[in-house]
Formats: sequence, structure tokens, C-alpha cells
Amino acid sequence: MVAKTLKVVNILIHVFIYFYKFSDGGGIGLNYGLVADNLPSPPQVISMLKSRNVARIRLFEPNHDVLNALQNSGIELILGTLNADIPNIANDINFTKNWVQTNVVPYAPTVKFRCISIGNEVNPGDLTTYMLPAIMNLNQAVKSFGYSIPVTTTIGVYLLASSYPPSNGDFSEASKPVMQRVAGFLGRNGYPLLVTAYPYFAYASDTGEIPLSYALLNSTEVVVRDGDLRYMNLFDAMVDAVYSALEKVGGGSVEVVICESGWPSKGNGDFTTIDLARTYNQHLVTHVLKSGTRKKPGKNVETYVFAIFNEDRKSAGVEQNFGLYYPDMTEVYHVNFN
Ligand SMILES: *[C@@H]1O[C@H](CO)[C@@H](O)[C@H](O)[C@H]1NC(C)=O
Ligand SMILES: *[C@@H]1O[C@H](CO)[C@@H](O)[C@H](O)[C@H]1NC(C)=O
Repeated sequence: MVAKTLKVVNILIHVFIYFYKFSDGGGIGLNYGLVADNLPSPPQVISMLKSRNVARIRLFEPNHDVLNALQNSGIELILGTLNADIPNIANDINFTKNWVQTNVVPYAPTVKFRCISIGNEVNPGDLTTYMLPAIMNLNQAVKSFGYSIPVTTTIGVYLLASSYPPSNGDFSEASKPVMQRVAGFLGRNGYPLLVTAYPYFAYASDTGEIPLSYALLNSTEVVVRDGDLRYMNLFDAMVDAVYSALEKVGGGSVEVVICESGWPSKGNGDFTTIDLARTYNQHLVTHVLKSGTRKKPGKNVETYVFAIFNEDRKSAGVEQNFGLYYPDMTEVYHVNFN
């Protein structure tokens, strides 16, 4: 009897954990990059990700084999558009509706779209003037089909002209007017801003200044003091710099999602070993599942590790070596996602 009761309690706890996990959207995301000619089939990949409890993936552009494999998987999706499509999405509602009809409508009943991103790391310059019109057009097109999916864009941390200390975070003069309008739209709609943030690149370009363990998230000491806030890792400092920049353009309520972060395991000598890559990604996963940043301690940062696979068609060197897996689906190194 006692054993039976315990079993029922055990089952109830698991049911609770299951719903908790999938209702708060907790869990780690991975970038599904496809710039390679030797990757396993999407159904193989998706079932491997399910077995690892990966909660979300990001796709840089619509890929119908992946979209099909994702159906009924329970894995949430960030879907990107090509940068080359941004002017058309901004200017031609027919093009935009057709994009949604082709890439979203067939899948929306069985795939949970976390959000759709207009482009990736769009540079300040010509394209940025299209950013808000493109976001608004795609938002309107998605709504016209009866779906409510957040529409946003992806910027790189390098859009900040200053980021040190984090409270000084500020967008560059060139990007500020656009970011002000974009942040206003995102804030009014409750949509997140996607940001790519790589402590690795900061560390590798400035090794004199940045302590390795500050970049790897395993520092045991405070490295940066910013008013009352004490920073032990560069990742939190980068995220908070973006929050500060958003505040300065009236976007203080916009959630920051780190849609890309990672550390290459090869390609740049001592800066890129399997040990360093494993250390960074494991600490990153544990950190973002457990706590928020110094500015927003209660708000865990939704984070996507780059990337699932090493991609052989990327430029030689570190770019080919960000993967957690080799193309044969064996691990480059193990990261615990729970
Ligand atoms: C958009 O599509 C509609 C209906 O197919 C058509 O009447 C209209 O001319 C198109 N507009 C543009 C700008 O292509
Ligand atoms: C952080 O991890 C790296 C890589 O494993 C290691 O070399 C370093 O000693 C660690 N730092 C601390 C403070 O534990």
C-alpha cells in the first residue's frame, strides 16, 4: 500500500515536472546550422535532440525538411528569414504573405513557433531602414492568417558602441534611431529582441584585458564592479549592457533572448580547446537555467548555444568548430542540458 502510494506520488511529481518544464518554457536551445554537406537527416537530428531534452532550436532560414521533422516534436522553433529577403518583406506585403503561407502556415498547427526573426545580425547601414517596416509587415502577415507568433529581429552585441561597464551600454549613433523604433514596437507588443553574444570573440581579441575565467563563466571572483552590481562573468555583463542600451532608447521592458552563444573547440590555438569549449558551454547552460543577470536576477536569460554540429562549409578555422556534435552524431564533448 505504502509502495503503491509512493508510486502514485512519484508519477504525480513527474507529471508536474513535465508540465512545469513545458509551460514555463524553461530549457536550453540550440542553433541548428546547416552550412555543411555531411549532416545526418533532420528526423535523426530531431529525435536525438528530443532524447537530450533540448527545449528549443533556432533555424537561420526556412528548411522544409527540418520543419517537417519538427512536427509534433514539442521542440519550439525560432525561425529566421534571409537578410536578402528583408527589402522584399518590408516593401511587398504580397511577398511577405507568401513567405508566411509557405513557411509558417503548413507547420503552425504542429510546430510551436517561439518567434520569427527578420534577418540575422543586420549591419547598420542601408538594410536597417527596412528593419521596422519588415517586422511590422511580417507581423501583419502572420496575424492575417490567424496566428499569434512574436516577430522580431536579431542583432549582434557589436551594435553597442559602448558596453563597459554594463550600465554604460549604448547603441551606436548609426543604429540608435532604428533601434529606438524597433524597441518601441517590440515593447508595445511584448516581443523579445534576439541578440548574438560571444564572450569568446571578446576574449580572443583582447586577451590582456579579459581574464579567461571571466569569459568562461567559472570565475570565483568579482571582476567588474558597476555601481552596486558585481560581475563574475562576461556573459551577464554583455546581456546587461544590452538591457542598458535598450533602456536608453525607451525599450526597458523588452526581453533580451540570447539566440547565439558558444565557444569553438578548435581553430585558434590555445584559445580554442575542447576543454575550454566544454567549460564555457556547460557553465553557460547551468547558469542560464539557474539564474538571471545582475540587473535582472529573477529573469533567466533564454539562451541558444551555437551550434549542434561542426559545419564544414563555413570558413576554415574557428567557424567550422563551434559544434557540440560531429556530423556522425558523436559528441565533440559532453554538455549536460538539464
Ligand atoms: C498583391 O496581390 C493581389 C492579389 O493577388 C494583387 O491584386 C495585387 O496587385 C498585388 N500587389 C502587388 C504590389 O504585387
Ligand atoms: C576555469 O576553467 C578552465 C578550463 O577548464 C580552467 O583552466 C580554469 O582553471 C578554471 N578557472 C577556475 C577559476 O576554476
